[in-house]
Formats: sequence, C-alpha cells, structure tokens
Amino acid sequence: MILIVAASTSTSLCGLRNLEELDIDGNELWGPLPSCFCNLTSLRVLIVKYNNFSGPIPSCLLSNLKSLEYIDFSYNAFEGSLSLASLANNSNLEALYLQGNRHRLEVNTEEPTWFPSFQLKEFTLSNCVLNKDAYGVIPSFLKEQNALRRLKLTDNVMTGNFPNWLLDNNVALEWLELNGNNLSGAFYLPSNLNLVSMTWLDASANIIDGELPSWIGSILPNLEYFNMSHNLFEGRIPPSMAKHCMSLTLLKLSGNNLQGQMLPRNSNLTNLAILDLASNNFIGDISPGILNSSFLQALDVSNNFLSGTLPNWIANFENLLVLMLSSNLLEGPVPLSLCNIKSLFLLDLSSNKLGPNIPPCANVTYMRFLHLANDMLAGHFPEFLLGGSSIVTMDLRHNALSGEVPSWIGSLKNLKFLMLQGNNFEGLIPLDLCLLKNMSILDLSNNNLSGQIPSCLKDLRFGNDEVSTDLYDALGMLIIVPGARVGSTFESEVVQFMTKSRLESYKGNILKLMSGMDLSWNNLTDFIPLVVGYLSELRALNLSYNHLTGPIPKTFSNLKNVESLDLSYNKLTGPIPPQLTEIYTLSNFRVAYNNLSGRTPDQKNQFGTFDEESYEGNPLLCGPPLARCDGSNLGQGTPPSFNHTREDDSWREAFLWSFAGSYVSIRIGFLVLLIDNSSFTTKMILAFTKFSKCYTKYFW
Ligand SMILES: *[C@@H]1O[C@H](CO)[C@@H](O)[C@H](O)[C@H]1NC(C)=O
Ligand SMILES: *[C@@H]1O[C@H](CO)[C@@H](O)[C@H](O)[C@H]1NC(C)=O
Ligand SMILES: *[C@@H]1O[C@H](CO)[C@@H](O)[C@H](O)[C@H]1NC(C)=O
Ligand SMILES: *[C@@H]1O[C@H](CO)[C@@H](O)[C@H](O)[C@H]1NC(C)=O
Ligand SMILES: *[C@@H]1O[C@H](CO)[C@@H](O)[C@H](O)[C@H]1NC(C)=O
Ligand SMILES: *[C@@H]1O[C@H](CO)[C@@H](O)[C@H](O)[C@H]1NC(C)=O
Ligand SMILES: *[C@@H]1O[C@H](CO)[C@@H](O)[C@H](O)[C@H]1NC(C)=O
Repeated sequence: MILIVAASTSTSLCGLRNLEELDIDGNELWGPLPSCFCNLTSLRVLIVKYNNFSGPIPSCLLSNLKSLEYIDFSYNAFEGSLSLASLANNSNLEALYLQGNRHRLEVNTEEPTWFPSFQLKEFTLSNCVLNKDAYGVIPSFLKEQNALRRLKLTDNVMTGNFPNWLLDNNVALEWLELNGNNLSGAFYLPSNLNLVSMTWLDASANIIDGELPSWIGSILPNLEYFNMSHNLFEGRIPPSMAKHCMSLTLLKLSGNNLQGQMLPRNSNLTNLAILDLASNNFIGDISPGILNSSFLQALDVSNNFLSGTLPNWIANFENLLVLMLSSNLLEGPVPLSLCNIKSLFLLDLSSNKLGPNIPPCANVTYMRFLHLANDMLAGHFPEFLLGGSSIVTMDLRHNALSGEVPSWIGSLKNLKFLMLQGNNFEGLIPLDLCLLKNMSILDLSNNNLSGQIPSCLKDLRFGNDEVSTDLYDALGMLIIVPGARVGSTFESEVVQFMTKSRLESYKGNILKLMSGMDLSWNNLTDFIPLVVGYLSELRALNLSYNHLTGPIPKTFSNLKNVESLDLSYNKLTGPIPPQLTEIYTLSNFRVAYNNLSGRTPDQKNQFGTFDEESYEGNPLLCGPPLARCDGSNLGQGTPPSFNHTREDDSWREAFLWSFAGSYVSIRIGFLVLLIDNSSFTTKMILAFTKFSKCYTKYFW
C-alpha cells in the first residue's frame, strides 16, 4: 500500500502497519517526528522533507525499519544527535538525504565502529555538525561504498585531505559536491582513471592547494559544471582541460592563486556559457583562447593583472549578458565593436585605465548594470546612455567627465543607483533628476555642482517602493545555460557607497535595503529645502562641504531611518533642532564647522554617543559633549562675528585667530574661577588646544 499524505495528522498514520511509502513532503508539520513511525516496519520509502519537524531524529527509525530504500529528512529543524551506525543492517538502503537542518543536528558516522550492509547510490549530508568528536572527518564508511552516483557533503566543516579515494572507488560517480568545508591537500586524480560519467564537480570554498592535475581533460572528458572557486589552487589552467573538456558549460575558478595566461590559446570549450576566473593572478592579454566559446553568456576575469587593450573581437560574443573586467590593467579606448553586443545586461569595466572615450553605442537597450568607475573617461556625460532606459545602476565615479549632468537623465526611469562621484560635473542639479522616482542611492559628491538643492528631490522614493520588485529579482539574475541542467544564479551586482564615513560595498539583500543621498563636496548654496526632511526612508544623507546657509530644518526629525547624517563644513546657522534626538536610528551625526548656535541636543538616546567631533568648529554652539561652556550662560554673551568661508583670507584669519584666542581664554578664566578643581582646569586647557586646532582646519 502506498499513501501520500497532505494533511497534518502524522501520528494517526502509525496504525498503518503495512505502509510501504510515506511521503509527507512540504507540509507544515511541526513538533518531534512521531517515534511510533518506528513501528512501520514495511516502509521502503520515508520522505519527511520540507516540514518543520524539530527535536532529535529517533534512532529506532534507522535501526527498526530494515526495509528502507529511500530516506529523506531534509529541510526541517532537527536537533540533537544521530548516529548513522544505526543504519548498519538496512541492506536495501540506496538513497539517504539529510540537508538543510540549519546546522543544529549533530551527525556521527564514526562511533561505534560499524560496517554498512548497503551500497548507497545517492547520499546527501549537508549543513550538519558532522563528527564533532572526530575533528569533522569525512565519513569513513564511504570507503566501502562503490556504487555512488551522487554524493553531496557540503557545509559540514569537514576537515582532512581532499578525498581522492572517492573518485578511485566510484567510477560511476556523476555528481560530487564537497563545497563549503575545510578540505585541504591536493586535488589529485589518479591518472589511470576515466570518469566518463562525471558531469558535476564542485569542491569550491575549501582550502585545497597545489595545481589542477595536468591530465584532468582526459579523466573528466564529460564534465559540464566545474566549480573550484575559493581555494588555494596555483599554477596554470591545464591545457588538457581547456582542450578536451568540451562539454563544460560552467567553469568557475575564481578566488585562487592561478597564474599565467587566463586560458591557453588552443582552448576549445565550445559549450562554455559561464567563465569565471576572477581574483587570481592571471597576466597578459584577454586571451583569444575564449574565442571558440562562442555561446559565452558570462565572462568574469575581474581582479587579475590582465593588460593591453580591450580586443575588438570581444563583440563576437553575441550572447554575452555579463562582462566583468574590473580591476585589471586594461588601457586605451573601449572598442567600437562593444556596441554590437546587444544583449549585455551587466558591464563592469571599472578600475582599469580605459578611456578617454566610450564608443557612442546606439544600443544599451537591455543594459541593467553599468559600472565604469575609476577609469579615465573624459568629455561630457556619455550621450549614448540616453537609450539606456533599463539601466538600474549607473556607476561613473572617479573619472574626468565634465559639463552638465544632462536633463535627459530624467528619462532613464529605472535608475536606482546613480553614482557620479568624483568627476568635474558643473552647473545645477537638473530638475529632471526628480523624475527618477525609483532612486535608492544618489551620489553626486565631489563635483562642481552649484545652485540650490532642488526641493523636488522629495519625490524620490529612496527605497520606499513596492513597485519595482522585478528589478530586485534582476539583481540575482538567472542565467540558463543552454543544453544543460545547469541553472546558476549570478549574484554579482555590487554597489559602493560612503556611509558612516566608510566606503561600503552593498550586495544582494543588503543592497535592496540601502538608500542614501550624497551631495557632499560641491558648491551648493542657499537654504536646505524643508522637504529634504520628508525623505523618511533615507538611511544616509551627506550634504557636507558645500556653502549651504540658513538653519537645519526642523523637518529633519522626520528622517526616521537615517543612520548617517553629515551636514558639516557648510555655513548653517541657528540652533540644532532639539527634535533630532527623536531619530533613534542615527549612529553617525556631524554638524561640525558651521555657524550653529545655541545648545547641543540633549545627550539622550544615541545623542549620548556623539563626541566633540560631531559639533566642533561652531564657535557659538554650547553644551556637552563640547568641553566649553558646560551649560552656563555662554549663549547669551555677544557672539563674535565669524565669516565662514573656505577661501584663504589671511587678514581675516589673523584677526579671528587673535579673537578666538582671547575669547577662549576669557571663558577658561571664568570657569576656573567658578569651579576650583584642578582636574577640571586640565580639561579646559585640553579643550583650548582642541579649539585652536579647529580653527586651523576651519579656515584652511
Ligand atoms: C509499536 O507497537 C507496539 C505494539 O503495538 C506498541 O506497544 C508500541 O508502543 C509501539 N511503539 C511506538 C514507538 O509507538
Ligand atoms: C546489525 O546486525 C548485527 C548482527 O545481527 C548485530 O550484531 C547488530 O547489533 C545490528 N546492528 C544494528 C544497528 O541493528
Ligand atoms: C561556486 O562556488 C561558490 C563558492 O562555494 C558558490 O558561492 C557559487 O554559488 C558557485 N557558483 C555557481 C555558479 O554555482
Ligand atoms: C573543437 O571542438 C569541436 C566540437 O565541439 C570540434 O568539432 C573541433 O574539431 C574542435 N577543434 C579543435 C581544434 O580541436
Ligand atoms: C520604477 O520602476 C518600475 C519597475 O521597473 C517602472 O515600471 C516604473 O516606471 C518606474 N517608476 C517611475 C516613476 O519611473
Ligand atoms: C560625507 O562626505 C564627506 C566628503 O565626501 C566625507 O569625508 C564624509 O566622511 C562623509 N560623511 C559620512 C558620515 O559618511
Ligand atoms: C554666525 O551666526 C550669527 C548669528 O547666529 C551671525 O550674527 C553671524 O554673522 C554669523 N557668522 C557668519 C560668518 O555667517
């Protein structure tokens, strides 16, 4: 009898003594797995995956149910410990799956000593605490297994040498996944082997070293998926692999110490769809060895030492969706032919010496993510981008682009991350920018933009959008490799943005959550529009190093998500709105070097954590944590009149210097008289030193 249960009455099943197959996959069952299942001795198939079972897996399930052929315990919340020795006498067992139990289940395969009476064909043991008392050794019973076709032992913190014996013992092996462990030693393929069945091999994210075996191409001729990224491999890519592994659709060797030419010249990887060789030590040109891989969809060789120019033939890859060449030594102009790759989805040429021109490509229709930062681009804002209405990320930071930011930028409706930092853009911030409602990160810092901050920026959502979820999905884009089972997510979109005074890289889910506006280091003037305070989703706002005047808007207390707020180095006047203490998310706050007056906000909530640096350089500002004026009546004294300017104005500076000096010493005298306490005096002298330092910075 076969019963497939979709309801939630698992214990009521226990009466069914003759049940042979029990499949309760994908229900919302919870609590411990009923131990009365141990009485279902006729069971051949037991599938309890994708539920929420907790507690230990009753060991009687393994030892009593001698007819079991197929067991799947995956994706539950099992805890406690389980010894696979209980399985010893289940001579019919062919498949056992145990993964996705959130690293709470301890699995022991070594104690007590046991000998399996079965020959497994498929075995998965992942995300477990494996052999805790035996240093995470690879299950030794696998040495007696010679019929394995699929083996997955991932994320178990396994230690020891790469199990070359597994390949020796299991010539029919098709699928081997050992990624995410601490396996070390060399990956050594016995040279007399011929593993024709092997199509999938992933031992990424371990600490395997040595060279890739030079005869690999003749031993694994039918390999389709080969992921050895994030290990310690050195040496070159074996020519035998590049020539004979013609079925390879995915080759991922990123994050190793490989060297030499990126691919041998005579490579013939005709089925290759994804080639990821990023973060190695490859040198030389972008190798024409990839030319035979005409179906290439994604090429990532970023973070190497590749030099020369970007070859014209790059346009031969008509299906290319992803091209990542960042952080190499590539130089010269970007070839015109690049325009022919119409399907490009992600282009990252950042951190090379490419430029000064980008070809005026007509077709960026499908472009989503464009990274051209830290290159040598010059001239006006690239006009061909006008056609890029799908662009989500446009990163042109740190080039030498000049002229105005064109108003047609407002037609790039999908822009979400616009980064123009560190160019020479001038003129006003175009009002059309306010049409880009989906904006999450707007970085215009370090340019020569002038005029007022447009009030209409209030229209930008800064992350407050339910609309564009499809774009988020594009961040973890799916590349379907033709002619193979391989579906691979390419989570490569990274955006850099300065917040809390650190340049951070945002990726994946974190990127989805990040929002910020950085207009620092420009020549912006006039008042800060009140409505900036209504950008309640902003997490970072930086308006520092401008010439902004007037008060800090009280509306800023509505910035309920802001973590980093920098208004320093402007000409802001008036008090700091005390309501700002209601921004509980704030962890970085700077209003230094303005002409603010009155009292510092109460040192409550996170405002208790900000030190003098947040406030210094505002001579009229008073109260803790500033060491001066200690809550006395300083605010009522006649304010000295400072002209707040970054320009060099030596006579004024000299005047101010003397003024500031006497101003401070009078204060000190007053306070020392008032509070006759020697340690306090020391503090005031320190404050004076600090105060003078401020002036040096302030008028520089
Ligand atoms: C198994 O069945 C026996 C006899 O019917 C019963 O006494 C026992 O409690 C059952 N075991 C479990 C674990 O339910
Ligand atoms: C397996 O069978 C042997 C011999 O019958 C017995 O000694 C051993 O205890 C059994 N092991 C388990 C886990 O049932
Ligand atoms: C290859 O391995 C890395 C590290 O384990 C993993 O993050 C990545 O998803 C794998 N790549 C592909 C394309 O499957
Ligand atoms: C490259 O592989 C194709 C088959 O995919 C084959 O027809 C061709 O002869 C190979 N070329 C070389 C130079 O080996
Ligand atoms: C925001 O993005 C969505 C999804 O891509 C798009 O349909 C919409 O037009 C954009 N909204 C605006 C106001 O441009
Ligand atoms: C604001 O921008 C300035 C200049 O670009 C930078 O030095 C400062 O660290 C930024 N502030 C924060 C809090 O990130
Ligand atoms: C600083 O602000 C005060 C009023 O708070 C004003 O009298 C003074 O002129 C301002 N100084 C500068 C340089 O703007």
